Amino acid sequence: MAIQIAPSILSADFANLERDIAKVATADLLHVDVMDAHFVPNLTLGLPIVERIAQVSAIPVDVHLMIENPDHWAPRYAEAGAASVTFHYEAASDPVAIARDLRALGVRASVALKPGTDAAVILDDLKEFDMVLVMTVEPGFGGQSFMADMLPKIQSVRTAIQRGVEDGSLAVAPWIQVDGGIAPGTARSVVEAGADVLVAGSAVYGHGDPAEAIARLRAIASGDAPAEVSHH
Ligand code: DX5
Ligand code: ZN
Repeated sequence: MAIQIAPSILSADFANLERDIAKVATADLLHVDVMDAHFVPNLTLGLPIVERIAQVSAIPVDVHLMIENPDHWAPRYAEAGAASVTFHYEAASDPVAIARDLRALGVRASVALKPGTDAAVILDDLKEFDMVLVMTVEPGFGGQSFMADMLPKIQSVRTAIQRGVEDGSLAVAPWIQVDGGIAPGTARSVVEAGADVLVAGSAVYGHGDPAEAIARLRAIASGDAPAEVSHH
């Protein structure tokens, strides 16, 4: 399946959200970062705003919950209109139960791992998830530097998915999403490691022309344009 690009509105103008959401309509998914000032030291937006975003976005909404108690909250975001809901493994009491609740509501169920969390914690439960988010920065803020030491973790999830597909334990391969520091200089490396969905905030909205930034990331990720030299 083609590499997907998911612009993060964390770097958009929050006073002009509808306008900035329209600017990235050529992307595959709209990444919405929900932060509660407890799980991460930052606060963004919650249910009523996600509900309106889902109503105005031309592309599916991919919610990334960086909040405590996703066991309670994750299904509410499915009901608010998200197409995909990602919760953090570290915050969840029962990750598999949350994923089952999400799927029962008809949305994609996704689990995220902070940089310090070993991928091994979810590898036995891959069939429960539609996507695994490997964070490539500490969650909480946009504009941080890509952590290249996460590449082996992306590879280990990819290897486990391949093995599951081959031995029949996985009927469908969950997607691997990466989030944090994705830019023209880092996009190719994460795809080579096995990522299929690339989140980019500052690289898209920090560019004068977000649609052009998306096209460039897509071309580099798909190998249609030469990878740029990474400065990290
Ligand atoms: C960080 C968020 C990211 C953020 C990425 O905790 O999860 O989605 O917007 O921003 P960049 O692409 O600027 O690293
Ligand atoms: Zn995110």
